[in-house]
Amino acid sequence: MFFKSKFILSLFLVFILSTSYAGEGMWLPQLLKLLNEKEMKTMGMKISAEDIYSVNKGSLKDAIVHFGGFCTSEIISSNGLLLTNHHCGFNAIQSHSTVQNNLIKNGFWAKNNSEELPNAGLTATFIDYIDDVTLKVMNGVKEGMSAVERQTLVDKNLSEIRKTYRLETYQDVIVKPFFDGNQYFAFVTTIYKDVRLVGAPPESIGKFGSDTDNWVWPRHTGDFSLFRIYAGKDNKPAEYSPDNVPYTPKHFLPISLDGVSAGDFTMVFGFPAKTNQYLPSSAITQIVKTLNPAKIAIRETSLKIMDKYMREDEATKIKYASKYATIANYWKKWIGESQGLEKTDAIKKKLDYEAEFQKRLKPESPYQNLLKDLENLFRDIDSYALARDYYSEIVQRNVELTTYMSTLKRLVSAYEKNGDKEYKTQLEKVKESSITFYKNFDSQIDQEKFGALLTMYVNKLDKKFIPEYLRRENLGMSYDETFDQMVRDQYILSSFTTEKEAFDVFSLEPAKAVAAIKSDPIYALASQWSDFYNKEISTPYNNLRKEIDLKLEMYTKAQLEVFKDKRFYPDANSTMRVTYGNVKGYEPRDAVEYEHVTYLDGVIEKYIPGDYEFDVSPKMLELYKTRDYGKYADKNGKLPVCFIGSNHTSQGNSGSPAIDAYGNLIGLNFDRVWEGTMSDINYDASICRNIMVDVRYILWVIDKYAGAGHLVKEMKLVHPKQKTNKKK
Ligand code: ARG
Ligand code: GLU
Repeated sequence: MFFKSKFILSLFLVFILSTSYAGEGMWLPQLLKLLNEKEMKTMGMKISAEDIYSVNKGSLKDAIVHFGGFCTSEIISSNGLLLTNHHCGFNAIQSHSTVQNNLIKNGFWAKNNSEELPNAGLTATFIDYIDDVTLKVMNGVKEGMSAVERQTLVDKNLSEIRKTYRLETYQDVIVKPFFDGNQYFAFVTTIYKDVRLVGAPPESIGKFGSDTDNWVWPRHTGDFSLFRIYAGKDNKPAEYSPDNVPYTPKHFLPISLDGVSAGDFTMVFGFPAKTNQYLPSSAITQIVKTLNPAKIAIRETSLKIMDKYMREDEATKIKYASKYATIANYWKKWIGESQGLEKTDAIKKKLDYEAEFQKRLKPESPYQNLLKDLENLFRDIDSYALARDYYSEIVQRNVELTTYMSTLKRLVSAYEKNGDKEYKTQLEKVKESSITFYKNFDSQIDQEKFGALLTMYVNKLDKKFIPEYLRRENLGMSYDETFDQMVRDQYILSSFTTEKEAFDVFSLEPAKAVAAIKSDPIYALASQWSDFYNKEISTPYNNLRKEIDLKLEMYTKAQLEVFKDKRFYPDANSTMRVTYGNVKGYEPRDAVEYEHVTYLDGVIEKYIPGDYEFDVSPKMLELYKTRDYGKYADKNGKLPVCFIGSNHTSQGNSGSPAIDAYGNLIGLNFDRVWEGTMSDINYDASICRNIMVDVRYILWVIDKYAGAGHLVKEMKLVHPKQKTNKKK
């Protein structure tokens, strides 16, 4: 009886685990053949795993490019034309914008190569090949080693491994841990450094719906921009030079004009940054109950203040556009994530899973106390984690002047360690980053943010996390007084609220400049606060975190061993992954059903004349009136804008290509739906969807809207559907 029920139970689990996970998973491209090819073919894929990832011939992976290290992009022509999101190219677009020549507002289309705009510091990284180096990394690691011994050995092995690669000057090798350190892969990369802006739609298309529509379906954003990789004459990476030539790729993606239907196979290829699929319930509880609410409240305060000023003044709006979007993005994501986790009962599901885990352990298993230990550790770290988030969100992110103080600190340290000479070397770098900083800095806005956020810090945190000099009782402040006045006074006294004053300090003799910096009230505050933070918050946090990480590594290993019937995929870590699913709508709540595609008609429905999020340009209205969609219309004569699918994507997948069953480009990934943003922690096939711009909308905007048809000519359009990769 016992055996029988256990047998039935495990069958049941195999069933549950394999059916409810369709669409789930971010898979390593080199392992698709082993783990996924069969399933992908059942789901409709017509090409082979070797067509996707091959070290012997050009394959899809050669067209997939890590964009600036934070987004994905793909090559769509034989001349190195690169497609990514508007929000991925936004910094570049903003940096070329002024009030007179506002590329954010008006868009930008280079008429020829010579008009394409260089972007210092922007990189395009290719993956040349991937090796499993687990055995080498673990060489000599023995059970029972202390955490420190073990880490020292692993670090030594890692640096040995790096040396064994004979690399070209433009190549790099990165070794990354997978499954919380249970497996290691080495990625050999080639990095191009001359990446130029080719085209961007106006924000009324590229950012249509802006923050109101962000993370939301139905969506109508044409979130794309175009860049081009330039290479030296030998097609190898080169520093920017006017003599560089467009890069010739090993592979580029043909574009299908066929469009998508519900149920179609889709694959998304890119560089998701970070997920946490294997956390214990105690960690998820901490995210939902402690950390997300705090970060949401801090950002909400900061956003409200920026918004007030951005609405008043056009120049301020340009200055703060990128910062605002960045802060707003995760503010909104965390709200969706918490709601989704609650709605899908994620904690309860984890508890059930943990009960099953515990049940399967033998009495003598070394994992018997693991979950209990983790629970205790997460309880111990809770208040430190909260204080750490408060500090980093406020002092190192939302308040710009305190964030900037770390730049000045480098200068002071250089002087104190190595005197004038080192100071002068640092000063050049500091001046450069200061120019960038002040270009987009408004002291009034920042001061108001600081006052409000400091008040929150002091009101919300346990006394032991508040430095003496910020405690109300030591400042003679009443309980309900805000810190606005105190901050205002310090901003008045500080020499770093304007570029001019800062550069006056930089023009002093090193000793005098350092003295001036150290006596600056904001510098003094930030630096004392940072010392306090290191001692009282970050050190105890890190000590606990080390213990947690060791236990998590063990827990992940244990899960792999205990649930042999489950197919595991490693958490995202900014390495190249493939995820696949189907084009599919969803039901967000009772009686509501979402279709899988939106049309231009929806843009017009959302149109609010003059609104900063939902305005539509006269040109667009005119094209809509005449229904001038050309070959980009679908079979009903409508122009598709976005579609959704069950691909398991995350941050970093922005700009990833959506690829059809034949290896052609059909869309451009840029977001997830609100109800499913918790997929980083708990993927749920019923409501997790990724959002893509339909490639036909992109082409229509380039061709019909912008009149940049020469760019479309450069691409390879395939229509009707045709197989572009040879079958194995
Ligand atoms: N939510 C998308 C992502 O995480 C788009 C963000 C950019 N758009 C915005 N309105 N902030 O990157
Ligand atoms: N917009 C996200 C990014 O910048 C992708 C959306 C997501 O997180 O799924 O990577």
